[in-house]
Amino acid sequence: MEKEIKILAIESSCDETAAAVVVNGRDMRSNVISSQIDLHTLYGGVVPEIASRKHIEKINQVIEQALSDAGVTLDDIDAIGVTYGPGLVGALLVGVAEAKAISFAKGIPLVGVHHIEGHISANYIENPDLEPPFLCLVVSGGHTHLVKVADYGEYVILGRTRDDAAGEAFDKVARAIGLGYPGGPKIEKVSHEGNPDAVAFPRAKVADGVYDFSFSGLKSAVLNYLNGCKMKGEQIVQADVAASFQKSVTDVLVEHAANAIEQYHMDKFAIAGGVASNGTIRQAMALMCEEKGVKFYHPSPILCTDNAAMIGAAAYYDFIAGKRAGMDLNAVPNLKLGE
Ligand code: KG4
Ligand code: ZN
Repeated sequence: MEKEIKILAIESSCDETAAAVVVNGRDMRSNVISSQIDLHTLYGGVVPEIASRKHIEKINQVIEQALSDAGVTLDDIDAIGVTYGPGLVGALLVGVAEAKAISFAKGIPLVGVHHIEGHISANYIENPDLEPPFLCLVVSGGHTHLVKVADYGEYVILGRTRDDAAGEAFDKVARAIGLGYPGGPKIEKVSHEGNPDAVAFPRAKVADGVYDFSFSGLKSAVLNYLNGCKMKGEQIVQADVAASFQKSVTDVLVEHAANAIEQYHMDKFAIAGGVASNGTIRQAMALMCEEKGVKFYHPSPILCTDNAAMIGAAAYYDFIAGKRAGMDLNAVPNLKLGE
């Protein structure tokens, strides 16, 4: 029987305090997430100082729960995986300090994980057949990356956003049309009642980067449209604006993914990150993949948004490749993928 490598994973890069136990990178034994969303909703977005303080309050409890849900103790753990970037520095530091403390006290090896590598690896948990190489679109509140996963731990970034991340655009547009924070799920919900062809918003292209994205122009187009309606005294139809905006984002994401699948001759395509839980985007991607004869992978919504199980999956492949972090591991807020 294959030896079980049990990883305790910790994630605290933004507004979720999370811990999980993952065996051999794929078998999720527990996945505990303490979300601060209600707290930040009062301010219309994540307040970094509040996030750090809440992480400190919650982290021990979340780790104890993750161990107990998995029916293990620290003595059973083979390695600790922790997100060390990118993210909010004060938030990341809580997880990193905690992971180092446990590693030092119990003599358990430590592995530093890139948050985006975690999002990509979320796909391994529910898809036992998924192995590199594959193409992955990571769309979250802070990132929009089109990545070729050449091998475990080997990433080639084909494209990225030049300005706003896809999730950020959802959040900003939601605020502008009076839906509040977090915008993604709210836009998706009202879009069901809207006409996606009601308003012709732009599909931005980046002239010198075929796989790069730009969402700030789309956001401005929505704001201009809202302004125009106001000047003309016209009532906006919230659901139509939401659905038209969502369609514009979806079209751009699908077109980029489709072009990269062709150019790089990929037969597997995965999505990841908070925005990947959007049903309209998933359906459009599934359809595109079906037309191209490409296998489509996506995590369950709970594994799309920030969680620690994805960090445990990524940490396993780093661990078996011999990667270890020392007691000098630090939070790196602008950590690049592949560094
Ligand atoms: O991956 P994530 O939890 O955190 C980051 O690493 O950024 O992603 C959060 C982002 C937010 O911008 C949120 O509005 C967006 O994901 N999001 C969605 C949906 N659910 C979450 N965007 C579109 N549709 C959704 N259903
Ligand atoms: Zn994330």
